[in-house]
Amino acid sequence: MSVHIMFPNFVFTREFLGKDSGIDPTMSADYFDCLKNEIDGMRKRDPVGRRVSNAGSGWQSIDGCDTNPMFVKAIRAIRRTVDDEMMPFLGLKPNTFKTHMHNSWANINDKGAYNRPHLHNGCFYSGVLYIKGDGDEGQIQFIDKDNKIAGVFPHAPKLNESFSMSPKTGDLHLFPSGLMHMVEPNPTDKDRYSISFNLNVESDNNHANFIEDNQNLHFEITSDYKLKI
Ligand SMILES: [Fe+2]
Repeated sequence: MSVHIMFPNFVFTREFLGKDSGIDPTMSADYFDCLKNEIDGMRKRDPVGRRVSNAGSGWQSIDGCDTNPMFVKAIRAIRRTVDDEMMPFLGLKPNTFKTHMHNSWANINDKGAYNRPHLHNGCFYSGVLYIKGDGDEGQIQFIDKDNKIAGVFPHAPKLNESFSMSPKTGDLHLFPSGLMHMVEPNPTDKDRYSISFNLNVESDNNHANFIEDNQNLHFEITSDYKLKI
């Protein structure tokens, strides 16, 4: 039997301090510590910050992480991930497009702080890089807005309406800006630190920059429901 995966949401994850740690040695545990200290400094300089989707006692900075010298290495690592890996996976040839960091900001979510469900309107891809998190300080949850089933149906493991990811220091998640998401309240006494950002992309023409054979997700499965590759 054939299976067509239609209209998928592609969420890309890079674990700079986990399984991907060899990829970029500049993204070290020490560097993430420095970024945490820098965010503490930003909060001291601007204790009020701003309120957007954040609720409770969390703090969010104004835009500008991408122009802060401390964040140069992190922004460069994010851009490399996007330009050299994410965009080719999405079917675009390298060097036929330009990505722009539209805006970026820092977050500290302490006990009880959370982010309501929201989208990042006006952008292409968005992302979060966890600066400090052990994994139990409230998950980011991606929510499917398209009902797959209308009517009564038993729960089926492959038909989920949401997907959660734990906040772990060094993890980067890139997701479509139109993918609904929220952050669960932090149940611990530990502060969760992250930076968030939006990306825009500009293409130098329209179709010549496509990579062939990278358009459809179509699998064959065997009678025991395993993929046949
Ligand atoms: Fe968000």
